[in-house]
Amino acid sequence: MASVSVDEAMRRAIELAARGLGATSPNPVVGCVLLDADGEVVGEGFHAYAGGPHAEIVALAQAGTRARGGTAVVTLEPCDHTGRTGPCSHALIAAGVSRVVIAVPDPNPVASGGAATLRAAGVQVALGVRTQEAEAGNVAWLTSMRRGWPYVIWKYAATLDGRSAAADGTSMWITSEAARIDVHALRGTVDAVLAGVGTVLTDDPRLTARNLRDGTLAIRQPLRVVVDSSGRTPADARVRDGAARTWIATAAEVGAGPDGRVDLAALLAELHHRGVRAALLEGGPTLAGAFLAAGLVDRIVGYVAPKLLGAGPAALLGAGVSTIADAIDLEITDVTRIGPDLRITALPRKREG
Ligand SMILES: NC(=O)c1ccc[n+]([C@@H]2O[C@H](COP(=O)([O-])OP(=O)(O)OC[C@H]3O[C@@H](n4cnc5c(N)ncnc54)[C@H](OP(=O)(O)O)[C@@H]3O)[C@@H](O)[C@H]2O)c1
Repeated sequence: MASVSVDEAMRRAIELAARGLGATSPNPVVGCVLLDADGEVVGEGFHAYAGGPHAEIVALAQAGTRARGGTAVVTLEPCDHTGRTGPCSHALIAAGVSRVVIAVPDPNPVASGGAATLRAAGVQVALGVRTQEAEAGNVAWLTSMRRGWPYVIWKYAATLDGRSAAADGTSMWITSEAARIDVHALRGTVDAVLAGVGTVLTDDPRLTARNLRDGTLAIRQPLRVVVDSSGRTPADARVRDGAARTWIATAAEVGAGPDGRVDLAALLAELHHRGVRAALLEGGPTLAGAFLAAGLVDRIVGYVAPKLLGAGPAALLGAGVSTIADAIDLEITDVTRIGPDLRITALPRKREG
């Protein structure tokens, strides 16, 4: 097999890491490519699920003795601690790897230190290859580890005139089946799905990740969270159907903000504590407005349907904006056509002060 450059190996490692998206929490996604002394690929691996072998261990097992004197190219600093699996730093040293190339240092104080252990054992360590790309692939985990609460994606569906429901309250199926399939795929990449009790009372959604054609549930289901200050979620609501874990988050349990409603920062801290690294906020407009007003949204995914309603609630309510100077500025990072609809991905720009 022809030899590959470290840069090319890192590109492949990032691609491998992405295969674990949605299945590794509370761990990160990680990819690893092992090159022998001649630069030939002798092992590949990724972290497939929490509790399963780490990417380095999978790649080392494939490489066997050919790892000796070779280079391990990894998207995240190898761990240095014994959790459900042993430290990857030690496994790399034991296999006789002579160089380790890392895209991103591990921000997790419990697991970091792998680079120092490797160096102390005489292994060459290089940092910073394709860092931006590897960061982007692990953005939810890295963000949540650095600041201690989950990465929040607000997803909504609206008509071209920005309505999230019709005047009579009906809102199901604003967007096409193709867009709804895309939403289920998005649910499969997060650890929790959040909805306000208003949406539960109006639409009675299931909030599970499933195949829309035959209704089969995805193997891994995000935690369903209903943000419900006073516990108004009906006993027979579909979110209580047992198809996935559900948490009715009340103000009594989480803590209340000044308005008596669930304290959203405390809610996110508790979700982080429960291992949630990425959360999908599925509305409705009141809860989304409160999250945005508090600056707690990291990414927005809007599905815009080629429909006009002319009346009915807006996609967003009460986001703390009363004058144009206070508008929440966004940077659009992607626009993709999904069937007849548009999926627009945007990042809120950080506000000064
Ligand atoms: N097009 C879409 O993408 C989409 C998505 C979802 C929903 N919808 C539509 O939206 C409508 C429901 O929206 P909604 O605005 O009435 O309800 P909502 O946003 O789903 O829920 C709002 C409720 O959440 C509770 N809440 C708890 N803590 C809160 C906090 N800190 N800040 C704000 N709210 C908090 C409040 O009730 P308590 O104080 O009692 O807890 C509040 O009334 C339905 O018509 C639904 O079909 C559309």
